Amino acid sequence: MTTTSEPLDVQPTPLALLLLGRESDPRSERGVDCPGDLPAPSDPDLVERARAAKAKLGEKVFVLGHHYQRDEVIQFADVTGDSFKLARDAAARPEAEYIVFCGVHFMAESADILTSDAQQVVLPDLAAGCSMADMATAEQVAECWDVLTEAGVADVTVPVSYMNSSADIKAFTGRHGGTICTSSNAERALEWAFQQGEKVLFLPDQHLGRNTAVREMGFSPEDCIVYNPHKPNGGVTAEQLRDAKMILWRGHCSVHGRFSLESVEDVRARIPGVNVLVHPECKHEVVSAADHVGSTEYIIKALEAAPAGSSWAIGTELNLVRRLAKAHPDKQIVFLDKTVCFCSTMNRIDLPHLVWALESLADGKVVNRIQVDRETEHFAKLALERMLALP
Ligand code: 13P
Ligand code: SF4
Repeated sequence: MTTTSEPLDVQPTPLALLLLGRESDPRSERGVDCPGDLPAPSDPDLVERARAAKAKLGEKVFVLGHHYQRDEVIQFADVTGDSFKLARDAAARPEAEYIVFCGVHFMAESADILTSDAQQVVLPDLAAGCSMADMATAEQVAECWDVLTEAGVADVTVPVSYMNSSADIKAFTGRHGGTICTSSNAERALEWAFQQGEKVLFLPDQHLGRNTAVREMGFSPEDCIVYNPHKPNGGVTAEQLRDAKMILWRGHCSVHGRFSLESVEDVRARIPGVNVLVHPECKHEVVSAADHVGSTEYIIKALEAAPAGSSWAIGTELNLVRRLAKAHPDKQIVFLDKTVCFCSTMNRIDLPHLVWALESLADGKVVNRIQVDRETEHFAKLALERMLALP
């Protein structure tokens, strides 16, 4: 293990976008190749094949779809939701032998942790990782804890990890007395953490951490420091660590990180009276300029409750925004940014991968199983259960 006196290896974290090809990076949070022998995307029978395979599997299979999934995939989801809701939905379906998770790798891991040993979780494309989750590796976080220990603050620091993290990071959090949070309960998680200790190590999304602490809880921006895993000692001094309340991991979402203050100003100029509604993974300046901020589920509910004729600019993933616009033709719903902004890894789950996974299961062959090892599962579950017990 690296000590604080040795310079750390300043290597960029591999980003798992993998826009081309099927290879994967073994150091990323999903870490394995997709072995699929896939049907051609041009096959006109794909929809029928997916339907037939699902019908053959019946109650044995439960298909979960995250809100950011493509329409072609979401049409086969038995339930849709954010990552936390989907993991709970999976746990509430003990009769389903197979959970097909249309989402990304960390979500499938969480579902595996929260479901019984008899249930098998399948991710239709193993290259569907999350670039944000990849920004905090187990080794980097262990080094960070060493830095905090050297500075004499580890004992009073409580880790709070966003759901969007690998099972290893969740296990680290469980081992060190911390909790998991989602974008809907981050404030409650932080309140709980500050009752347990004096500081929080928030990872991997610096924006969700800062937005919650500053916007929701009244901390000042100066109470927050950013720990950069690519710099020696995180790029912070022991004194800064001792003074800080929130130690934010230098991670971000490559999708929500694209929205800028200019996008907000631009849409306000184009659409007078528009309501700007953004996800808390956006940068602090974007969140500060928005009218409403909330998780994916919050965004969906806000638009359901909005009056006909109202105008909305939404700062979240494009698949969801397009579906919302289609579902509410009586409201003007636009994407906050001018340029296209899909989550490329979420989009890796397409109809050919789903058909391949369902047909393989229907033939009695479990493919792309996501299985968290027992020790990691034990400690990750501890952190997840602390979240479930939050008031
Ligand atoms: P929620 O669905 O929990 O709001 O998170 C958004 C996200 O980026 C999922 O990857
Ligand atoms: Fe990860 Fe962002 Fe994609 Fe969510 S939207 S899976 S946080 S890269």
